[in-house]
Amino acid sequence: MTASLASYLDDFASSPVLRDVGQTVLHLSAAAVTVHRAIASGRVPERRSVGDTSSNASGETQKPLDVFADDTFLAAASMSPVRLYGSEEQEEPIELGDEGHLALAIDPLDGSSNIETNIAVGTIFSLLPLDVGATDPRSAFEQPGDRQVAAGFFIYGAQLLLVLTVGSGTMTFIWRGDSVGFVLMREAHAIPPETREYSINSSNRRHWTPGTRRYIEDAEAGEEGPRTWNFGMRYAGSLVADTFRILQRGGVFLYPGDRRKGYASGRLRQIYETNPIAFCIEQAGGSATDGHRRMLELSPADLHGRSPFVFGSKKEVEVVAAYLTAEERDAASASAA
Ligand code: F6P
Repeated sequence: MTASLASYLDDFASSPVLRDVGQTVLHLSAAAVTVHRAIASGRVPERRSVGDTSSNASGETQKPLDVFADDTFLAAASMSPVRLYGSEEQEEPIELGDEGHLALAIDPLDGSSNIETNIAVGTIFSLLPLDVGATDPRSAFEQPGDRQVAAGFFIYGAQLLLVLTVGSGTMTFIWRGDSVGFVLMREAHAIPPETREYSINSSNRRHWTPGTRRYIEDAEAGEEGPRTWNFGMRYAGSLVADTFRILQRGGVFLYPGDRRKGYASGRLRQIYETNPIAFCIEQAGGSATDGHRRMLELSPADLHGRSPFVFGSKKEVEVVAAYLTAEERDAASASAA
């Protein structure tokens, strides 16, 4: 029989923290079904018209669905052993009473700018332990990503999927309707170490630094270039969709820092985007960096802080790092000359 999400989480509930994680993931899953229904129906219950917009803590456009997803996941967190809720849609973390042992960081609806185009969007989440003894529970969000006890993302696409890691491989669950719920679809993702597919928004080429430009140009040069083989390019522009493709068949994704105003550290937010994705990728045998350093060892600056992000097939992530290191070396010798 196919394992249900509840039984999978039950098998892992070997400690009080993992029991709390299990309960929380089940509440988040129920919330994801609600958000999925709103997306599928094209209607946001009791909200303004779908075209209305305002802006969130990061100054990005906020749609009624962003607000609806945030409300729905906040309600789920309130029913869970979660004490601290840090969301892309909220300027500051919200304290949910003084019980709970977990901090939840969440991007309630990632890629929502794509919602009218009917491409896959998602919810990305990260669960961190509260820092026992810390005077301010908000310090939970200052921990590096390797302190995460679970992370994952829901994909609202042709299928409703949950990609999850509790630190023991990365699994995918599929929602089979109310009577069955989420069941295991892919037991352990294994990202091939090598790839011939990259993923980047190349409309930013003129803003890239030389290392990124050289890496992409060499890949584009194909068989005739220094890489000696032909690469393909795929970019959904929706982080959950790009990540799932890489989990399924390998690839390398880059969102580097670039020279646009405000983009020195790229676009993606560390606590609720790059850290949870990095945890899933590493648990599937891939690697994830800020271009040089392992993502999960970096201490976040603040709840909405950004980080450059390179992840995917291990050997290709190393190749990207070599190009970026060569760029730094060139810059250092140019300034010394
Ligand atoms: O952070 C939101 C997001 O839509 C991600 O899902 C996606 O990877 C990225 O932004 C796309 O950014 P851009 O439109 O700059 O390529």
